Amino acid sequence: YHVDWDTSAAEKGGFDWFMRKEIFEQPQAIADTLLGRYNNRGELVLDEMRSISQEDLRRVNKIVIVACGTAYYAGMVAKYAIEHWTRVPCEVEVASEFRYRDPIIDPLTLCVTISQSGETADTLMAIRHARVQGAKVIAICNTNGATIPRESDAVIYTHAGPEIGVASTKGFLTQVAACYLLGLYLAQVRGMKYADEIRAVTDELGRTPQMIQQLLDNAQQVYDLARDLSSINDFIFLGRHVGYPVALEGALKLKEIAYQHAEGFAAGELKHGPIAIIEPGMPVFVIVPPQGRDQLHDKVVSNIQEVRARGARTIVLVEEDDADVEAYSNVIIRLPRVSTLLQPLVAAVPLQLFACELATLLGHDVDQPRNLAKSVTVE
Ligand code: G6P
Repeated sequence: YHVDWDTSAAEKGGFDWFMRKEIFEQPQAIADTLLGRYNNRGELVLDEMRSISQEDLRRVNKIVIVACGTAYYAGMVAKYAIEHWTRVPCEVEVASEFRYRDPIIDPLTLCVTISQSGETADTLMAIRHARVQGAKVIAICNTNGATIPRESDAVIYTHAGPEIGVASTKGFLTQVAACYLLGLYLAQVRGMKYADEIRAVTDELGRTPQMIQQLLDNAQQVYDLARDLSSINDFIFLGRHVGYPVALEGALKLKEIAYQHAEGFAAGELKHGPIAIIEPGMPVFVIVPPQGRDQLHDKVVSNIQEVRARGARTIVLVEEDDADVEAYSNVIIRLPRVSTLLQPLVAAVPLQLFACELATLLGHDVDQPRNLAKSVTVE
């Protein structure tokens, strides 16, 4: 009797790829990001922020987030939440663009940098530049003692555990969660939000691990979809508000590991160009905002109708009791009920599973995609 056993299979804990393992680790990873960072009254307790005085945080008049790749998309999500909670203008920019355009930074600017590895050269150069201009820098990072946290004024570690797959998954979700903790902390320090409002968000954040678990338990639906779409080479992703960066991230995952042409758009921009490329049968993934928020939900439902009318195959990610999309959807992926700002923490998960499964079916090395590196240490 021969047992097939090798160390790499053991490290992957029974999964075929580190990436798939890391996707399934996300409930725990998010719980670890949140652990100990707010008390039972819902007050943020970010001891790691002590190296920047509360007085300095109160004087900040602009926040700039700089990052690359998936971390940049986490920053795009964070901008919506941070501006909403703090009312401080917040910009987000890819580090390579930010560094060389003579950005306006001064000692009242708070620079937030996001990097899973903490070693990305473009990001490092950006924060060095920001510090020379007198800005305080806060790093959101997953790697203890990496260069970026060492060169920052404060660091909030995401505590996601090692991420081996080149395409970031638990890195992304935990970056969003850590940015949200930072946004709530700034709102608290600046007296912008009442304790009960902050508590409502932290309570909901605390429930996201079980919501993510619920999606992972339903992975088979997404795997079947990947099989159905395995001969397709063009994919469109649409989202609005925080769903927009999620659409970009869904498209990035497909490019990175499945080597398929995939583009994400702000759903409201459809009519300004992207709708012209819709061909019959083209898969269009749409992230639908929760019902009842402004008119966002209804506007996105209209976008689904528009692409369906042109023959698109619509794959709709929508909250579980939303019936409005049923007539226009080829496939409905049900998301747990969650507020708009927290929806990225659930909506990204089926998109990660889809990319991982599609790349597997196409026979690619999911953990080591061609031409890419886990950490890009050259500018
Ligand atoms: C590389 C990786 C991506 C990652 C990006 C930023 O391109 O392949 O997965 O999102 O770098 O990495 P960082 O470590 O700074 O988050």
